[in-house]
Amino acid sequence: MEKILILNASPRAPKSNSKHYAEIFSKNCTLETKYINISKTNHTELCAELEHFSNLLFVFPLYADGIPVTLLNFLKTLESNPPNHKPVISIIINCGFIEPEQNDTAVKIMNLFCKQNGYTFGSVLKIGSGEAILSTPFKFFVERKIKKFVSSIISKKYKTFKTTMPLPKKTFINASTKYWIDYGKKNGVSEEQMRTMKIE
Ligand SMILES: Cc1cc2nc3c(=O)[nH]c(=O)nc-3n(C[C@H](O)[C@H](O)[C@H](O)COP(=O)(O)O)c2cc1C
Repeated sequence: MEKILILNASPRAPKSNSKHYAEIFSKNCTLETKYINISKTNHTELCAELEHFSNLLFVFPLYADGIPVTLLNFLKTLESNPPNHKPVISIIINCGFIEPEQNDTAVKIMNLFCKQNGYTFGSVLKIGSGEAILSTPFKFFVERKIKKFVSSIISKKYKTFKTTMPLPKKTFINASTKYWIDYGKKNGVSEEQMRTMKIE
């Protein structure tokens, strides 16, 4: 029977945007789904769990133009503990910047992993403005694309989708800059401190 295991590979999985994207996916999916956060300690357990699923969906954020270390470390374990029946791997990736194309390198990394390890690479959804879009009136853009993404997986007609907020880049940059400066202020961090390259 077709079943989908959804793995959240955000380093802040319990409070992540990825979690919300996964929820929208499950709500719109007619196949059985099971959702689990990847943690530091559950890698081998997840590899064993995979045996029971026809599909694997990774939901994760873009970190420094690549995949977050939570996902990288899990892929290392999966590489040495592959299931006997390999599921089709699909991905939903979201990034902070407005352009969904920012996610392209991370998608290539996942595609390469699948090629090198014998997994069919399924559908992809690249979300730009992923930190913000769910709390704006443009939320339905994501919901609409996730529905199409779900259909492509169920029909096995795998495709790459993208979505973002339909705003001019300048408007987006102004709004997000204001948001982060206000956010810093609320937490006692000045704009100057946020702009420094020094970590400590
Ligand atoms: C350490 C770190 C690195 C990030 N790197 C990028 C990046 O290179 N490009 C980008 O567009 N967004 C980047 N982001 C923004 C995240 O992709 C964005 O906030 C996303 O919505 C987080 O998803 P999550 O809540 O599911 O973890 C970065 C965020 C963090 C914390």
